[in-house]
Amino acid sequence: MTNTTTKSVGIAGTGALGSAVARTLIKGINGYTLTCASDIKPNKNLNISYVSFTEMAQNCDLIIETLPPPIVPDLCEKVFKEDKDMIMLSACAILLFPEILERHKRVNSRILVPSGALAGIDGVTALAQMGIKNAHIASTKPPKGFSNAPYIIQNNINLNKIKEKTLLFSGNALDAAQGFPANVNVAATLSIAGIGAEKTIVEIWADPNAIGNCHEIKVEGEFSSITAKVENIPDPANPKSSMLAAQSIISLLKKLNEPLVVL
Ligand SMILES: NC(=O)c1ccc[n+]([C@@H]2O[C@H](COP(=O)([O-])OP(=O)(O)OC[C@H]3O[C@@H](n4cnc5c(N)ncnc54)[C@H](O)[C@@H]3O)[C@@H](O)[C@H]2O)c1
Repeated sequence: MTNTTTKSVGIAGTGALGSAVARTLIKGINGYTLTCASDIKPNKNLNISYVSFTEMAQNCDLIIETLPPPIVPDLCEKVFKEDKDMIMLSACAILLFPEILERHKRVNSRILVPSGALAGIDGVTALAQMGIKNAHIASTKPPKGFSNAPYIIQNNINLNKIKEKTLLFSGNALDAAQGFPANVNVAATLSIAGIGAEKTIVEIWADPNAIGNCHEIKVEGEFSSITAKVENIPDPANPKSSMLAAQSIISLLKKLNEPLVVL
């Protein structure tokens, strides 16, 4: 039987991905009503009311986070205070701000991390039940997708001078999250699903000939190994993000509510 209770939803951050989710919710998803949004720059094209994080947490059953990672701890504080569930797209905030999970231990609610721009996470979580030997992710994007990343600024890398596919970074997911907080949510998601941030190996490539953002995971367990590759066309509104990530939130919302679900 389909759940007949309607959940009140709020979206924190209505940039490229939050707005895409908002548009779908406004069109209608069974079991959900978009009640409000919160953003320092409201999207005037969306016919919704904008409120503070606090008001959103008080008035909604479920909060969808599509913010820059540094803003996520503030949102979590407000949402956790009200014991509300959260869909968190900026998975790398969990790596960057360990206080989020510390605080969440005292809260009676759930943090749901969607698959985002990745594929194969279902297999990784299944494999993790038997033990994962190693996990690796290589992310490739056009150079402009890495503009303003702390690692690029600290190492004085001129992205305009990259003329061929170039390895920008190789290391663990924790260091990748610090160097590329807006780009490695996928690596964070893989590490949370798999063997943790310190053991998950990340390669970040800039490729001037890349048409879109590409993520390839390789995960080895005792009895199975998984290779999954996703090639995403970047959203013109934000070349750092992939529209698949917005659709993974819609898919998650439906999974939480539908009578027949493939997880
Ligand atoms: N898990 C994944 O695979 C995946 C993939 C893509 C993006 N992401 C995450 O999703 C986030 C959203 O992506 P996007 O492309 O929509 O980004 P975006 O930059 O288009 O949107 C972010 C929005 O947050 C708002 N914002 C910034 N500071 C704020 C504040 N202090 N209070 C309220 N609002 C504030 C901005 O005004 C903007 O509208 C990214 O930051 C990234 O962390 C995750």
